[in-house]
Amino acid sequence: MVPSYLKPEHDGLPMRDSQDYAKDKLTILKGYMARFTTAMKDKKWRTLNYIDLQAGPGKNEFSPSGDIMLGSPLLALTTRFPFHNVFLVEMGDAEFDALEKRALESGLGSRTHLFHKDCNVAVDNIVERIEQVDKEFLPGKWSSLNLAFLDPEGLEVEWKTVEKLASLNRMDLVVNFSTSGITRNAGMAARDEGDTVVDRFFGTREWRSVYERFRVDGASSVRRKLIDFYLGRLNDMGYVQTERQEKPFRNQRNVQVYTMIFASKHDLGIKFWNGAVKEVRQPPLL
Ligand SMILES: C[S@@+](CC[C@H](N)C(=O)[O-])C[C@H]1O[C@@H](n2cnc3c(N)ncnc32)[C@H](O)[C@@H]1O
Repeated sequence: MVPSYLKPEHDGLPMRDSQDYAKDKLTILKGYMARFTTAMKDKKWRTLNYIDLQAGPGKNEFSPSGDIMLGSPLLALTTRFPFHNVFLVEMGDAEFDALEKRALESGLGSRTHLFHKDCNVAVDNIVERIEQVDKEFLPGKWSSLNLAFLDPEGLEVEWKTVEKLASLNRMDLVVNFSTSGITRNAGMAARDEGDTVVDRFFGTREWRSVYERFRVDGASSVRRKLIDFYLGRLNDMGYVQTERQEKPFRNQRNVQVYTMIFASKHDLGIKFWNGAVKEVRQPPLL
């Protein structure tokens, strides 16, 4: 039997090595996409768009279980009610090749837009395309409704990229905030007078005073304050802060590696998120 590129099974192409704790991330995202595409499919949005800034190869193999799950781009290409456009960005060569082969099997060819680029560059083109669609006056039609997933390994998504996405009228964001990336980089960056990866991540040097103020209280305190600082910056762009906006993930040693942040400007988005988060086993929310 020919293995399917769109099923959670081995297919001869590379998969991303992931840890079991990351499964919930994909389950939540899948649940969010299902709610979003089902509830919105007959509404007057001119297009429903999904943007994946770090798509990966399309499948994940987990350790230690050996389980396989579709990655975020393939989840977006296999929703029951399809997105009108799925924009997939991946910078790695091997990951992109595997992603392309798998994505092309979805049958959503004309709706799938692949970018083998740095996400901080590709974002301009993606937003421009959506703006083009939105700028024409179409009687009885609303502007596009968009969902973006930011799933970096560290701090590679610059704030200007988040701002660019948020410049679109309706843009829900699911952001993996890499607390391990902050822990790894903040101390050295705070002592560096030049422009650092952390400055670009926050889009300002103001994080440095938060860091200096709270670092004496220990790593978890400074981490918390920097997450709050990031949430505050989202809030300044009109994103609503809610109690369940975050879902922290810890590794096998119980160290927090990232926290999944949801940001929407609308109640319905928040309702979808809360529903999707409830579906997974829940370590206590921060
Ligand atoms: C955590 S993985 C993404 C996993 C994927 N979202 C999933 O659900 O399976 C991060 C990916 O981002 C890619 N990447 C790293 N820096 C990037 C950048 N600046 N622009 C685009 N992709 C990048 C890496 O090659 C890697 O495949």
